[in-house]
Amino acid sequence: MIRKGLEGVKICKSSICFLDGENGRLYYRGIPVEELAEKSSFEETAYLLWFGKLPTKIELENFRKKMAECRELSDESVRMLHNLPKGLHYIDVLKIFLSIQGSTDEVDEDLEDKAIKIASVFPTILAYYYRYSQGKEIIRPRKDLSHVENFYYMMFGDTNGKVHLLESTFILLMEQDINASTFAALVIASTLSDMYSSIVGALGALKGPLHGGASEKVPPMLEEIGNEDRVEAFVQKCLSEKRKIMGFGHRVYRTFDPRAVYLKKVLQEHFSESRLFKIAQRLEEYIVSNRIKNIYPNVDLYSSILFEEFGFPRNMFTALFATARVVGWTAHVIEYVNDNKLIRPTSEYVGPLNVEYISIERRDEDGQNSC
Ligand code: CMC
Repeated sequence: MIRKGLEGVKICKSSICFLDGENGRLYYRGIPVEELAEKSSFEETAYLLWFGKLPTKIELENFRKKMAECRELSDESVRMLHNLPKGLHYIDVLKIFLSIQGSTDEVDEDLEDKAIKIASVFPTILAYYYRYSQGKEIIRPRKDLSHVENFYYMMFGDTNGKVHLLESTFILLMEQDINASTFAALVIASTLSDMYSSIVGALGALKGPLHGGASEKVPPMLEEIGNEDRVEAFVQKCLSEKRKIMGFGHRVYRTFDPRAVYLKKVLQEHFSESRLFKIAQRLEEYIVSNRIKNIYPNVDLYSSILFEEFGFPRNMFTALFATARVVGWTAHVIEYVNDNKLIRPTSEYVGPLNVEYISIERRDEDGQNSC
């Protein structure tokens, strides 16, 4: 039987994440994601996903230090930064740097250590390229700051009293079962390729607008709508043109995405004056109350508005998503290769067989066969 888009196909057993699509619930290692977003930190949740348990105080302290020590890029990579063209998409920048790090990182270490190394350096790559693109001096990472505080600091040279809201957003984006990019990572890992290659593949999958790339499409779409009164006309136009409304719909959630629910509350409490947020709320209200295609807002609708409020450039939004999701990707790679099986599906062949090979002299000019 063919399952288009592998819908509903289970490819492995996993104890990392449970996504209850019917009831709109999401759990990391059994803990509701809202509780982690509220009470945990990036480092603590990453530890939970990688090691399967919450760390003790000492374990967390050592883990934070380890991540902080892995923040800096090699001198060679920093030199290379200055040879890059400006204006590249940030996902591509990550792919370039990770490919280089992967080729030069010959240390034979545990997959967990490799994962820590890869996740720790994401913010540095993004912040360095951002500042370089702006013609500004790069800001070196600080070891005394947390992962997310340090990211904000390297970007903007400042601290921000609301950075915990950004951290909650990263926690919500960190993991989501076998989504398209995680699957891409697993396909590569299942060939026993290196972890950097898996992550480069996952980044490519995340970039698409049906997946993490939707976050970059949401703000321009809200601007196109322009104001709350134009929501209905916009939705009807999209439906008639068979155009997807970005930030809505999900393969697994058949109701509200709990991450969108959480972030909407954050925006209501802290950024209620945002023009884009007002339009997004109205869009949600219209689509849900009229049961349009039975779709609900997904995480990208509101995370993109939050990223906008923090001042990140729009073409970095998918890379911000990746900065969080890299934890989930690597956690799944570690789990999968422990009980590895090469991923190699098949197709149902519907073409002809035993077709005659016609020599090039006997073929028509227009490419049609002449027999
Ligand atoms: N706008 C308009 N119609 C939609 C949308 C949407 N956002 N999502 C689904 N539909 C319609 C779709 O056109 C189809 O209608 P019909 O049966 O008449 O052809 C029906 O709903 C079923 O949709 P589908 O595309 O077959 O469902 P899927 O499970 O393949 O799609 C999706 C899931 C996420 C690709 C889709 O909802 C979509 O394209 N959404 C917009 C992009 C987006 O926001 N992506 C982020 C997803 S969540 C975060 C992440 O994973 O990165």
